[in-house]
Amino acid sequence: MTQLLSKSASTQALNKLDMPSRPRRLRRSDAIRGLVQETRLHPRDLIVPLFIAPGDRRTDEITSMPGIFRLSLDHTLREIEALCTLGIRAVDLFAYVAQEMKDSRGSEALRPDNLLAESIRTIKKEFPEILVMADIALDPYTDHGHDGIVNASGDIVNDETVEVLSEMSLLAARAGVDVVAPSDMMDGRVASIRSALDQEGFEQVSILSYTAKYASSFYGPFRDALDSKPRFGNKKTYQMNPANVREALREAELDEAEGADMLLVKPALPYLDVIAKIKERTHLPVGAYHVSGEYAMVIAGERAGWIKGDDVFLESLTSIKRAGADFILTYAAKRVLPLIQ
Ligand code: PBG
Repeated sequence: MTQLLSKSASTQALNKLDMPSRPRRLRRSDAIRGLVQETRLHPRDLIVPLFIAPGDRRTDEITSMPGIFRLSLDHTLREIEALCTLGIRAVDLFAYVAQEMKDSRGSEALRPDNLLAESIRTIKKEFPEILVMADIALDPYTDHGHDGIVNASGDIVNDETVEVLSEMSLLAARAGVDVVAPSDMMDGRVASIRSALDQEGFEQVSILSYTAKYASSFYGPFRDALDSKPRFGNKKTYQMNPANVREALREAELDEAEGADMLLVKPALPYLDVIAKIKERTHLPVGAYHVSGEYAMVIAGERAGWIKGDDVFLESLTSIKRAGADFILTYAAKRVLPLIQ
């Protein structure tokens, strides 16, 4: 180092360092920065989560997620058309279930013509080329807000829940879904869903498994959007402890062995190390979910005039991709698309 930084006799007068390696040479212009850029966001990297509301002509903005709406199906179709123009090819559907239709077992999730099934059918008919994914979990459907069946002692019972999730996946498959995305964190659900799908001839339907889904405080605004806050306790007996990463690798191994096609880490920014480590160890595509709280914080900061929303979103999504994500679910898609065309 001393040698590298030593001043040669000839440059000494000008106070120049004798230094052959100058990384700043590759940062001099936008053109050269672009040339050596290692990670680039592309519209095809992004999946847009959509909240679907029952009824017609409804556009309810979600208070804690400004700029994001619960749209009735008619408006959802228009939204998808707009997203297509911007280069998006994949959406993930979440159905809003009115309080009076929720019960302790989440029965609405298994009603053949429920809003999720109807939406999948309609969207696939109108936009056959769009990849339609459906979130598979019971929390929007249960009156207690948990992702599974609750027994008398208040435990979320695993195997019985897995049965319902497999049924729910079949319903989505019959409606024409391309990808089911179980987000519940029950043990063994990937194997069970895979076998249920295959038995009915849906071997073409893929499973995007929420592999490392953490018991995170970043989901708050999402639970406002679907009115799905847990009414008792928390989700720590099924979602992962934010302190753990080796456990995420174990989950990844299990999901892979059970037949998952793609793995997902969630949330994204606070868990970049988890994305990177899983990516190192699997040959499956790895995605990340840039969640509601991550979105809401940026909007809040922007509204206060403290940060530039567009720049922070772009930086965040690029970082998530740099960490190893092959694709990203994000509410910021519509905002960043014009910036990455
Ligand atoms: C349902 C589900 C949740 C999210 C995605 N699927 C909420 C939860 O697990 O409590 C969160 C997404 C977000 O915050 O944007 N199981």
